[in-house]
Amino acid sequence: MIKINKRISDVIKRDKKVIFTTTREIMPFVVERGDGDHAYDVAGNRFIDFSSFIATYNLGVNGNSEIRRAAKAQIDKLMHPAFLDFYSELPVKYAETLMTMFPRGFGRVFYSNSGTEAIEDAIKLSRLFTKKKYIIGFYGGFHGRSLGSLGITASKATAREGVGPFVNAVHAIYPNPYRCQFNTSLPDDCAMACIDHIERNILAKECPPGEVAAIFVEPVQGEGGYIVPPKLFMKELRRVADDNDILLVADEIQSGGMRTGKLLAMEHFGVTADIYTMAKAMGGGLPIGLTIAKKELGDTPPGSHAGTFGGNLVSVAAANAYLHYIKRNKAKLESAAKAKSKYIMKRLGKMLERYEIVGDVRGLGMMLAMEFVKSKSTKEPAVKERDAVLMEAFNNGLLLLPCGTSTIRIIPPITMQMSNIEKGLNLLEDAIAKVQGSSVG
Ligand SMILES: Cc1ncc(COP(=O)(O)O)c(C=O)c1O
Repeated sequence: MIKINKRISDVIKRDKKVIFTTTREIMPFVVERGDGDHAYDVAGNRFIDFSSFIATYNLGVNGNSEIRRAAKAQIDKLMHPAFLDFYSELPVKYAETLMTMFPRGFGRVFYSNSGTEAIEDAIKLSRLFTKKKYIIGFYGGFHGRSLGSLGITASKATAREGVGPFVNAVHAIYPNPYRCQFNTSLPDDCAMACIDHIERNILAKECPPGEVAAIFVEPVQGEGGYIVPPKLFMKELRRVADDNDILLVADEIQSGGMRTGKLLAMEHFGVTADIYTMAKAMGGGLPIGLTIAKKELGDTPPGSHAGTFGGNLVSVAAANAYLHYIKRNKAKLESAAKAKSKYIMKRLGKMLERYEIVGDVRGLGMMLAMEFVKSKSTKEPAVKERDAVLMEAFNNGLLLLPCGTSTIRIIPPITMQMSNIEKGLNLLEDAIAKVQGSSVG
């Protein structure tokens, strides 16, 4: 059981006085340091990290020594290269390396400082490339909270309330095999119903294809609930984009950078997008946003788009160390993600059988989740139970994050030792058992 001391309550009290509280979660976690599998708060409580600090520390809390060394060394050389106006070699080298890891035909990288900025850049670039204005997004999709990206985000109405109007985005239905809005029981039928809706309603009745610049899609919906679409859906979405001369933008901000065991989660679907957005894990713990486009899309006029801090050398140095690490250890990371995913899914599957409040377990690679319901037959979302499981686990030293309406993400660093994964899963199961009011087994 963790201990909440005066320092923790004091920081939280002071935080509430000076920091906007629009995004803070319920857990009293005042973080101080981290070392791989664990994070520690200011009272010295130790937590197993099943959050990767919002899908960012793929190689362990506070990154690894290579990342830290690269960032420290760069600080002493030059931090800010004014990449908007001057040239600098490191961002060029990084982009060259990244392109060797991308599908053929990719050759342009735009640097920014966060996921939402990478999306802003993708919106702007897709409009500049196509000279078209509409964007198609998906209900449940999350692409960021700045005004452009928020126009495509549709995961929670509270994020949009009172701040519109937004960019010209219309929303399509994302295939959720557990809760298909078209009431189909087979995942592929759900996929095809969603595709049919885009073609017959959105493109035929609402947004003429000649006016749609891009379709923005998450390969796995993240904040919306860790929904993995059927493979057929992504293939068909590519077809729809091709048939109608629309760009396909894959938002890999949460799913990319090896989280699913691949650099790009789209690889699992055998589909290549025209533009990719990446951030989070790619910075190795420092802020970075990347918008990556096919070379054939062309270039944008000088001066049409830029930003002061894009290409910041400390961020790029950390990102470069992360990239080289995953390039060198690709096979190892891929098989670790596969094996750990299989083990976690097996344990989650057992919890699904044992507990009535666990409605679904799902995921791709190490991007895994558990959805809570009032009962398996009604599938009514169990929000209070989900929150109670989060808190119970937290109180016993396990860091978890919510997503969707009543889901918990299970996203340990890919490098987490099996013994700690097992300990974390035991803590999760104890929490579920306690909340459901039954005992384990
Ligand atoms: C898929 C996806 N896109 C965009 C974003 C926005 O990224 P950021 O919070 O860095 O602006 C997120 C953040 O969670 C995300 O998961």
